[in-house]
Amino acid sequence: MTSVPTLEDLPDLDRRRVLLRADFNVPLRDGEIADDLRIRAALPTIEWLRGHGAHVVACTHLGRPKGKPDPRYSVEPVRRRLAELAPGVDLLDNLRFDPGEEADDPAFVSQLVDGFDAYVNDAFGASHRAHASIVGPPQFLPSAAGRLLAREVDVLLGLRTDPRRPFVAVLGGSKVSDKLSVVEALLGVADTLLIGGGMCFTFLAAQGNPIGASLFEDDMVGDCRRLLERHGAVSASGSASPGPERPAAGGSRSGEHVLVLPTDITALGPGGELMNPAAGGEVRQFGTRLPDGWIGVDIGPGTAADFGDRIVEARTVFWNGPMGVFEDPRFEAGTRALAQAMADAGGFTVVGGGDSAAAVAQFGLADAVDHVSTGGGASLELLEKGDLPGLAALRGEWQG
Ligand code: 3PG
Ligand code: MG
Repeated sequence: MTSVPTLEDLPDLDRRRVLLRADFNVPLRDGEIADDLRIRAALPTIEWLRGHGAHVVACTHLGRPKGKPDPRYSVEPVRRRLAELAPGVDLLDNLRFDPGEEADDPAFVSQLVDGFDAYVNDAFGASHRAHASIVGPPQFLPSAAGRLLAREVDVLLGLRTDPRRPFVAVLGGSKVSDKLSVVEALLGVADTLLIGGGMCFTFLAAQGNPIGASLFEDDMVGDCRRLLERHGAVSASGSASPGPERPAAGGSRSGEHVLVLPTDITALGPGGELMNPAAGGEVRQFGTRLPDGWIGVDIGPGTAADFGDRIVEARTVFWNGPMGVFEDPRFEAGTRALAQAMADAGGFTVVGGGDSAAAVAQFGLADAVDHVSTGGGASLELLEKGDLPGLAALRGEWQG
């Protein structure tokens, strides 16, 4: 695989027009930007380009407006923030207001590149999308990865190829089906994979635990069982469940990739509602067997402590996906403990984008983590496949 061109590989940019594809798909609350990380993350690239005399025109998608203009997804708040952080940089309309963006329509690509001398992709969070603004321009303009994209690739591919060991990965979030291929990829590279969040319940069910009314994906049970058998799952306290590859006491033998499930669960009782404490409903801790009607909403304190110990002892940690419903303060403890362990860890710590990045930001711990990725889906796809459509396009190897 040839390497991706960087800013230094571009021709002279003095008084040239550069099209910058950024991922300014920021969270909005009541029309205001709730977190401007993705805008600030593009500033080093913008400053470099302007320092070399270029006129920068940025473009981004925002939300999922389905190919037509929709005032709810106006980039105006982004334009205002960008004008404060990088005055003089223009911003095109939301790319997804045109159906040609998601369809990778050649006519839309021609329109985009018209009048530009070079193209820079700094939209890491969108580089897993084979959309017009991501894969199109490198076919027509001298092109390069911006600083953010280059750093993300460096960090995340480094986890695949050369992690310092032990390498502990942590996955949470609600669905196994969304993350099965990532689970498999991480089990190929990490020494230990800790699983929490809604997705742990299908694994616990596959082990024969009653899981009450917790999230459950019937059609994933077979896959979960196969993974548990192959990776000799240990419970958080270290005792092995039946399986062909039991790890030695105290952890895995080198070369083994072990899956670890929670040993205790915080659950919400019948009548309770998420995000609504006023509805009542008892909150209690259980082991791994939940009574009828109870919903598992977080990893329990024992599991949180055990996961935390493993993270603090690791030399490399990657975390994606919350451990529970952390938006509800009653059920944030597991995710908070994990974020705190990431911050305390002496090893190299990486948080995948999306909800887990939002969690470390919410707990004020983002600065204590070595790398918080700006991409959710993109970071998982890069870890899984080792490549993204946007990177292939920059290498001149994209085949649509
Ligand atoms: C993201 O926020 O995950 C990226 O900006 C990509 O957005 P998308 O999932 O709507 O393609
Ligand atoms: Mg550290």
